Amino acid sequence: MTVNNLPGKILVIDDDRALCELLEEDLSRRGHSVWTALKVVDAREILHQQDIDIVLTDLNMPEISGIEFCAEIQSNRPDLPVVIMTAFGSLETAIAALRAGAYDFVTKPVDLDLLSISLDRALQHRHLQEKVRLLKNQVRQQRSDDEMLGESPVFQEVKQQIMRIANLDTSVFICGESGTGKELVARALHQQSHRCEEPFIAINCAALPENLLESELFGHVRGAFTDARETRKGLFVEASGGTLLLDEVAELPLALQPKLLRVLEDHKVRPLGGSKEIDCDVRVLASSHQDLAAAVAAGQFRSDLFYRLNVIQLELPPLRDRGNDILLLAFRFIEQLSQRFNKSVTGLAQPAAACLLAYHWPGNVRELRNVIERALAFTDHDQLIMEDFPEQIRRPNGGVSLPASLVATGDILPLEEMERRYIRQVLDQLNDNRTLAARLLGVDRKTLYRKLKDS
Ligand SMILES: Nc1ncnc2c1ncn2[C@@H]1O[C@H](COP(=O)(O)OP(=O)(O)OP(=O)(O)O)[C@@H](O)[C@H]1O
Ligand SMILES: [Mg+2]
Repeated sequence: MTVNNLPGKILVIDDDRALCELLEEDLSRRGHSVWTALKVVDAREILHQQDIDIVLTDLNMPEISGIEFCAEIQSNRPDLPVVIMTAFGSLETAIAALRAGAYDFVTKPVDLDLLSISLDRALQHRHLQEKVRLLKNQVRQQRSDDEMLGESPVFQEVKQQIMRIANLDTSVFICGESGTGKELVARALHQQSHRCEEPFIAINCAALPENLLESELFGHVRGAFTDARETRKGLFVEASGGTLLLDEVAELPLALQPKLLRVLEDHKVRPLGGSKEIDCDVRVLASSHQDLAAAVAAGQFRSDLFYRLNVIQLELPPLRDRGNDILLLAFRFIEQLSQRFNKSVTGLAQPAAACLLAYHWPGNVRELRNVIERALAFTDHDQLIMEDFPEQIRRPNGGVSLPASLVATGDILPLEEMERRYIRQVLDQLNDNRTLAARLLGVDRKTLYRKLKDS
């Protein structure tokens, strides 16, 4: 007996009970799970309840013809292969069956070995289809997750820099406040370089204690220390040919810094406890939200390593300086996440948009994403409204630090002057886009001009 290496769930439909039993026994022996139905109504029920991989159906059935049934399955489940059994092995029936979308046909009396070959092929076809579908989804998902959004002039500048330096193969130090997209940029640098087919690995230097980080980065040989039961390659070797991102590099313990410097200079790594050096061709990117130069000045970071990592510096702007990008990103996150949450939220109400624009976003893009995610989880509306956002975002001045003259104690301003300054501030955030400012402030453009002029 040969057990099939690709077992499937097969539904057999034939009004001949003896044939059903024979097929059930034979196909089960070959490793498949088999359901049988003497009537089409039963078959429909089974298809409804089970995740069947292949349908094997008789051509001549009392209720409807096998060809009609095949067409019915095709319209409901186009991915499900149907193999038709026919007593009349004529060319016309075969063609009609294939036209109706059947995957294959076999003639009666059924040759069990030939049937098995046909079913194996149908199963393989189905598994391949399934794999392609999964891969397509993954690629689509990855593309939309990895896409770097931003139209503001400061962010356009970042994108241009990425294009210019992606293929230079030098170290890049990516800095910027927390959540500004440093890891996303590192991935973009990798993806746009000739190394894109090789691994991209990111390690957070702040997440591991010194000894673990050392063996994680440089590897170890068996027995190098008490817990080293297996030899471990280390990330430098694993990333060979590709890119390694040292995230939170300012946290790299001083003791490991000379070792890292040596790898960067010589492109060779010596695992802990090892006697041989291993070649590694890795592009190293580093990132931190801390001021690395200040860490050097404070004696926490070696200056030679700083210069080696900081060949090119890429500084990411904080979200509050990216004007309209806030809304662009908000809309993208709403689109992505409402799909994931199965909600039909389509956008933002105007006052809610104004809130987002006015807030100072200390946690940058990550914070915006989290705020949108939370709002989507709780909202009952088709558009997110101000009340869907947490208190600190809804505050009238949205956490913006108002001009000193506005907050200076005892400095009472006429209402119109206050209004004028507020309009100016909104315009600054929107890169002077007056149409959008008018929309967000709930006035028409003429009124906006007048209010600016009047004062
Ligand atoms: N320009 C952008 N377009 C789309 N999504 C972005 C953009 N920038 C950042 N993100 C998203 O924001 C989140 C934070 O980005 P990322 O992890 O790259 O930030 P980071 O600067 O490395 O943060 P941290 O300093 O906390 O490590 C991620 O979900 C990322 O996909
Ligand atoms: Mg990061």
